[in-house]
Amino acid sequence: MTGAQQFAGTTGDVSLPSWANVTDKRLQHITRVCRMLMHWAAAMHIPADEADAWYSAGYLHDALRDAPESELRELARDYTRDEELLHGPAVANLLETRGESTPGVRLAIRFHTVGAPDWDRTGRALYMADFLEPGRRFARTDRAFLAHQVPHDFDGVFRQVVRARLEYALREGFTLFPETVALWNAIR
Ligand SMILES: [Fe+2]
Repeated sequence: MTGAQQFAGTTGDVSLPSWANVTDKRLQHITRVCRMLMHWAAAMHIPADEADAWYSAGYLHDALRDAPESELRELARDYTRDEELLHGPAVANLLETRGESTPGVRLAIRFHTVGAPDWDRTGRALYMADFLEPGRRFARTDRAFLAHQVPHDFDGVFRQVVRARLEYALREGFTLFPETVALWNAIR
């Protein structure tokens, strides 16, 4: 039985692998992301192997989000970038070393914080669910509307989400990462 099928057969709770390091609050976020992804997957009638990739990406994307910085740097093999950018590459590298997951899932996880222009639908779905999940406090009505639209206009909503995240970064004076800019240039 695949992870997605298992998830669908329970009350919709996730249990993470033993190497994961997350707070309870983070686990609730991960669970909401998985629920949203599985809701879209069912509404869009996507193939079972793709639904499983979406589930794996959602389930594992933040699995090391609360791990110590030194562990993240070592796993990500990155000693320069901001700490918040390390947890995606750290998980992707760990999965690769363990021979687990598919390249599409690892690409989705590796770049979920900054975006990537060469994502397949798994990366795009994770990026949207991470932003649109209902536990985030800002713009609740707008985000709920977009989440509802995903099965009807996947690419259109993805573009809106990339734009919203870029606008937010600009407004707050955050760094614009080259991956994010490349993603926007690929879809605008
Ligand atoms: Fe997340």
